[in-house]
Amino acid sequence: MQSRRLNLALAVACAFSLNAFAGEVEVLHWWTSGGEAKSVAELKTMMSAKGHTWKDFAVAGGAGDNAMTVLKTRVVSGNPPTAAQVKGPSIQEWASEGVLANLDAVSSAEKWDSLLPPVVANGMKYKGHYVAVPVNVHRVNWMWVNPEVFKKAGAKVPTTWAEFDEAAKKIEKAGLIAVAHGGQPWQDATVFESVALGVGGADYYKKAFIQLDPKAIDSLTTLKAFDTLRMVRSHIDKNAAGRDWNLATAMVIKGEAGMQFMGDWAKGEFTAAGKKPGTDYLCVAAPGTEKAYTFNIDSFIVFAQKNKDQKATNDFASTVLSPAFQEVFNLNKGSIPVRLGADMSKFDDCAKKSTADFVATNKAGSLVPSFAHQMAMPSAVQGATQDVISSFMNSNMTSKEAVAKLLAASKKK
Ligand code: GAL
Repeated sequence: MQSRRLNLALAVACAFSLNAFAGEVEVLHWWTSGGEAKSVAELKTMMSAKGHTWKDFAVAGGAGDNAMTVLKTRVVSGNPPTAAQVKGPSIQEWASEGVLANLDAVSSAEKWDSLLPPVVANGMKYKGHYVAVPVNVHRVNWMWVNPEVFKKAGAKVPTTWAEFDEAAKKIEKAGLIAVAHGGQPWQDATVFESVALGVGGADYYKKAFIQLDPKAIDSLTTLKAFDTLRMVRSHIDKNAAGRDWNLATAMVIKGEAGMQFMGDWAKGEFTAAGKKPGTDYLCVAAPGTEKAYTFNIDSFIVFAQKNKDQKATNDFASTVLSPAFQEVFNLNKGSIPVRLGADMSKFDDCAKKSTADFVATNKAGSLVPSFAHQMAMPSAVQGATQDVISSFMNSNMTSKEAVAKLLAASKKK
């Protein structure tokens, strides 16, 4: 009797504690590749450890173009998820629609202002209130190299676009693919972004793609960037159309191709395949971009919810910024922690280089937001810019025509 009463008391206590603390978080994201899925799984595990149910709302499609379309439909129908992977100026766009919750309680309790670089913190706030939580810092201007392929071809890892052309020709002569690429608009924009940065430098990049200065866009530098992009295109294999980015990474991993231009989520694929940087693959800055850094910060906005308490949402945001999550997530994802002062001892040399370069380029004024990854432009301009680059990649458009179209895209409202 005694023990039965105890059991009952325990059962009631358990049920009570679960009811009191458990909540559900539905999270929209596009992390579906091998490395990405492993990374987001860590968040699910940590949320369940806090007693919350994770409702996965994954929408496949690199860079989130598909995810954003689905998100709009859900919000318009009055049924937003708890949180959604949204970044850059779009955070402000969503906040100005009045559909976001604020994270004041958790951000002031945990002193987020002191945990984050000010430039990152500012982007997460709307009218002084945190409406989003950042996850990581990705670097976009990387070139992923298979050293074995270079060895077979007798080629040298390029640091300029002219050297790149030479190396690519040697790799092709050896019967291999020079550049692994997926012909999707966002991947085309990712390559163009690195090419433009390499050709024009950080000051030009800022003027043309952040300030949208017509003189910088309509310039000989942009013309040269498109000419260079055409040269890069000539080294992409003929089956690139529509290929997912992680399949392109797999071509470099397997030694079918020599290089890929991609942000360091690609490193998540190398890591998931058990490959080691420095031996199995190299992470080097895209030609001409060694002294600059295009950053891409993943973040989650949180939605105002009818009839739901904010406990689960706050726990979600707190987990995302916790040192334990920042470490395990970024080790898998290929990015670096966004939280200041993170312990980098478990991270590899690519992550350490990314951290050092982030600090150095910040000082030098060459740390710039990635427009291909929605960090720099209003979303309408970004979409139109991406369309121009992608039509250039898929047609005989001249560089001159592309420059004119880019100028028109920059004026898109
Ligand atoms: C980026 C995103 C990364 C990665 C990549 C490929 O825009 O910031 O986290 O997911 O797309 O999907």
